[in-house]
Amino acid sequence: MHGAADLVSPSTPVAAGPRRAAHLQLSELAFAYPGAGSVFRALNLQVQPGEFVAVLGPSGCGKSTLLNLLAGFLQADGGSVQLNGQSIRPEMPELGYVFQSPNLFPWLTVLDNVRFGLQMAGSLSAAEQIARARHYIDLVGLGAAAELFPHQLSGGMRQRVSLARTLAPEPTLLLADEPFGALDAITRRHMNEELLRLWSQLGQSILFITHDIDEAIFLADRVVLLGRAPQGIDSELAIDLPRPRSFASTTRLPRFLEYRNHLLDRIAHVTETFA
Ligand SMILES: Nc1ncnc2c1ncn2[C@@H]1O[C@H](COP(=O)(O)OP(=O)(O)OP(=O)(O)O)[C@@H](O)[C@H]1O
Ligand SMILES: [Mg+2]
Repeated sequence: MHGAADLVSPSTPVAAGPRRAAHLQLSELAFAYPGAGSVFRALNLQVQPGEFVAVLGPSGCGKSTLLNLLAGFLQADGGSVQLNGQSIRPEMPELGYVFQSPNLFPWLTVLDNVRFGLQMAGSLSAAEQIARARHYIDLVGLGAAAELFPHQLSGGMRQRVSLARTLAPEPTLLLADEPFGALDAITRRHMNEELLRLWSQLGQSILFITHDIDEAIFLADRVVLLGRAPQGIDSELAIDLPRPRSFASTTRLPRFLEYRNHLLDRIAHVTETFA
């Protein structure tokens, strides 16, 4: 019997990287949970093609709600969300989601977990699916673990599989809700660096939700701070730090510390206004 790798011929096309990076535009977005007060009244936010935007905000300000609106788990009450000028639909191939929990299928190997979405999409042959899945498994540094099952992996490795699974269909807009929030501090910093490395190769647009100030500054081109619901955006901060960034050196730069102090002050102001 042939193993999965035998299906891949040398001529099998592998990933060429994502298509044109996406432009995301939220205009006057409004949302309230049934029977509760508004979370957003008129939220306006853009992610430019290839831009890395971090959304920061205190607990309860609406970060997960925002991602759930973009993922189609919740329906907006008003306003619009457009991807490259078209109304966003959760099933658009341009979109990729990474959530806090990796949610891998425990009965599938790493390779089959990453391949799963490609099988469902049905646009690639079996050999192309395997080649594509292997490419992204290699890219997240798990080449040697492709045949392992999720229970044989560390938390950081599982989150890498989740990242590879999201990247494999080659989305041009990545939407992430605290994807590294459950990891220990050392693994988290490492994953932050890995994400930047992948982004520098793949060039997607990224909207990254976090409540970690250092993570937001370290990753992003722009940090958007949400205020108390339903205020929406409190302020924005352009992050002018050189790339490539490494956690050990970038976080020691005087400008990084200025950004951190500025955001700490703003967050203190925002949380003071909490009832
Ligand atoms: N299912 C729900 N029904 C009613 N209200 C909800 C529901 N889910 C969230 N909320 C409320 O909506 C607001 C925003 O919640 P959300 O989970 O988006 O916050 P968050 O910024 O992600 O917080 P955290 O940092 O704690 O994850 C909060 O006031 C919360 O109590
Ligand atoms: Mg949340």
